[in-house]
Amino acid sequence: MYDTYIEHVFADLRERAGRVALISELIGTEISEAMYLLHWLQSAQDSGEGDIVEMGVAQGSTSALLANEIMNTGRHLWLYDSFQGLSRPTAEDRLIDDIEARGSMDSYESAMSFPQQFVRQRLASVGFPPDRTHVVAGFITSEVQDLPESVAFAYLDFDLYKPILTGLRLLGPKTRPGSVLMVDDYGYFSSGPQQAVRDFLAEDDRFDLVVGPRSAGHFCALLRR
Ligand SMILES: C[S@@+](CC[C@H](N)C(=O)[O-])C[C@H]1O[C@@H](n2cnc3c(N)ncnc32)[C@H](O)[C@@H]1O
Repeated sequence: MYDTYIEHVFADLRERAGRVALISELIGTEISEAMYLLHWLQSAQDSGEGDIVEMGVAQGSTSALLANEIMNTGRHLWLYDSFQGLSRPTAEDRLIDDIEARGSMDSYESAMSFPQQFVRQRLASVGFPPDRTHVVAGFITSEVQDLPESVAFAYLDFDLYKPILTGLRLLGPKTRPGSVLMVDDYGYFSSGPQQAVRDFLAEDDRFDLVVGPRSAGHFCALLRR
């Protein structure tokens, strides 16, 4: 399947040792979705300097994939998570897809909670250097100081309105032309991520919005002009 996508869809994606095995370990992410993510990661890296960010890491399987891709680049990997699961949904979060059949948006508070140790173990298993790893634990707020100087690529996967808008506001000023901010669950699970993107773009008009094809999951990419 991977080879078919490389041949017919992502012909520009350069090969990377270990990638296929790490894609097969992703949880809830299809091959086409992972490759779409990697397509934009490569584009962002090719366009210049900056670190790589994941906001909402859960058990760290995507973190390991990103780490493997940037292994030889000298770039740092910044990982943000409460490690206590989802924060409380707000009014902007209407339940669109009841992915865990919980019956209401509110019942997703604290869902998807994994210990920080999981992501550390996954990064160790791919051999990513600890001195280029920054794990920032805690519910995201606008007061967070632990941020990269410059961001090439960020994958925001907090699932909810408030943390995604907070993350975009923190990272937007750290981008440069060619940087890519990807938001997951755009029009999926909760209405919040799409609303957060809309509100962020109303504040910062330096980004072009690209909504990914359905076959590539529920991503949108904000491309910094
Ligand atoms: C869908 S999971 C992330 C999945 C991960 N990106 C992957 O590809 O495997 C969402 C994560 O966001 C975290 N999260 C949700 N709301 C948060 C908040 N307000 N602050 C920090 N982390 C939060 C949760 O703890 C959870 O681990």
